[in-house]
Amino acid sequence: MKLALFASGTGSNAEVLIRSAQAGELSGEVALVISDKPSAPVLAKAQALGVKTVAIRPTSFQNKAEYEQELVSRLQSEEVDLVVLAGYMRLIGPVLLSAYEGKIINIHPSLLPSFPGLDAIGQALQADVTVTGVTIHYVDAGMDTGPIIAQREVPLVEGETHETLAKKIQAVEHKLYPTVVNQLLHEKLGEES
Ligand code: GAR
Repeated sequence: MKLALFASGTGSNAEVLIRSAQAGELSGEVALVISDKPSAPVLAKAQALGVKTVAIRPTSFQNKAEYEQELVSRLQSEEVDLVVLAGYMRLIGPVLLSAYEGKIINIHPSLLPSFPGLDAIGQALQADVTVTGVTIHYVDAGMDTGPIIAQREVPLVEGETHETLAKKIQAVEHKLYPTVVNQLLHEKLGEES
């Protein structure tokens, strides 16, 4: 099984997934890391771990469909089975969705459907909730709206800041994402055999 990771930023989730795969903890390998941002730190992290990377700027294309057609070509040439969004901050459009239907997943730092979109952690603090969390879901055309695969709660404590909450949420993400990705790879292996 082959994975492609999509990321726009720091890439801590991407790094955890690459390390899990390299440690033999996933039934698959990370074939490719794709970023829409050539300066994203995730690219250097993945390269340091020996993973192939590619930066594809959406603005280099006439429109989103052409950009996504390029993504699809890269994924197909690596024979990717599962696309894993790890801090990829763009909506997936119809070209990519139809080519990889049911094969794109995302992680989001809230208990969806609460706090979709940007800065879910800030949204949770603003709303003064006592519990937020992490959601992994299949990607559809909406913003953080696809069918939910797994969720974990993260309680807020007195005096919680954006920084402390982000740290707790990321710790949960780093455990949950490899576990769920591995479950999905097993399911796909089962379907193919
Ligand atoms: C993660 O917390 C992920 O849940 C979030 O971006 C962060 C990326 O961190 N994704 C979204 O908000 C998607 N809507 P990382 O670059 O360190 O993995």
